[in-house]
Amino acid sequence: MQYTAAALSAIALLGLTHAAPAVKRQTLPASGVTQQSLVDLENIITYLTKDIVETLHPDAETDFTNANNSFVSLKNSIPPPDCPAVTDQEQITTAQGAIDALNTTQNDLAQLSLDLQKTASSQTVIGDDYCNAYSSFVATKSYIYDILGTPENGASNEAVGATMNSDGYDPNKIDQTYIETQIALEALVSALTNVPSGEPASSGAKTAYDNAEAAIANFSKAAGTAAPHSCPMETTPGATDSQGAIDDVYNVERNVGSAYADTTSNNGQKLVAFCNIAAYMSAANDYVMAGTTS
Ligand SMILES: *[C@@H]1O[C@H](CO)[C@@H](O)[C@H](O)[C@H]1NC(C)=O
Ligand SMILES: *[C@@H]1O[C@H](CO)[C@@H](O)[C@H](O)[C@H]1NC(C)=O
Ligand SMILES: *[C@@H]1O[C@H](CO)[C@@H](O)[C@H](O)[C@H]1NC(C)=O
Repeated sequence: MQYTAAALSAIALLGLTHAAPAVKRQTLPASGVTQQSLVDLENIITYLTKDIVETLHPDAETDFTNANNSFVSLKNSIPPPDCPAVTDQEQITTAQGAIDALNTTQNDLAQLSLDLQKTASSQTVIGDDYCNAYSSFVATKSYIYDILGTPENGASNEAVGATMNSDGYDPNKIDQTYIETQIALEALVSALTNVPSGEPASSGAKTAYDNAEAAIANFSKAAGTAAPHSCPMETTPGATDSQGAIDDVYNVERNVGSAYADTTSNNGQKLVAFCNIAAYMSAANDYVMAGTTS
């Protein structure tokens, strides 16, 4: 474990007001290494979601194992919580159920990341964040190993955009790609909150950005807007720091919600929402990908 100057002064402050704790306590804020591995885990959760949406069975097993290994090493870098076992009844049997569970996992990991950045978080809070994230994740195991890609998986085996309804969107994949996009954006926000102010985006944040773009492309395909269409000229100013990029991603999230509602209600407004998504992603891109050649 690395003791940074901030961590040492946090220990010193604790020492003034409290007796020495009897059990091993997480030193907060958590080390950069711990935070980095958490960002990597969130990116793996995004890949696993993509594997489910795209019915990539072998990839899903690999990503499930990778995520499980990352959970285990993360657990060893915080005071290991004693998580309740997941029962067979809690195992998920549908693609939508698995994706919803991974959405919960991603949100709990994002919360864990924030709590590990605060010096005041209690060990109970950190343990609960971890166990909540892990239990939703583990509940997807039998779906991933036994159902994904089998005939029992039904229409979820179809590719994105394979079936379009009379309202002009893919009823099989619109919900899946919508949540996949939320999961990818959550990982991006989380990665950006870990960038110290004044510094360029981390490689984990760049990966999360690329994953979010890919998820949006498939959400757009499921929504029936992938065909070329023109958007108004972009006037959103480019982000120049991590906080600016986070604000842009929040605007993307809001417009993703509108895009979903506009698409499923077929109210004629979905292109406006997708143009806003593109504009705010482009604004975030100015900071996240600065100096990157693609
Ligand atoms: C996760 O990894 C641990 C340690 O390698 C292993 O004991 C456990 O069975 C794995 N869990 C799942 C759900 O595969
Ligand atoms: C995914 O998680 C976010 C944050 O908790 C929540 O707002 C959203 O409703 C979830 N999405 C779905 C479809 O459950
Ligand atoms: C979207 O989904 C299809 C399969 O359904 C996949 O082949 C493709 O790579 C996905 N990503 C993008 C960005 O379209």
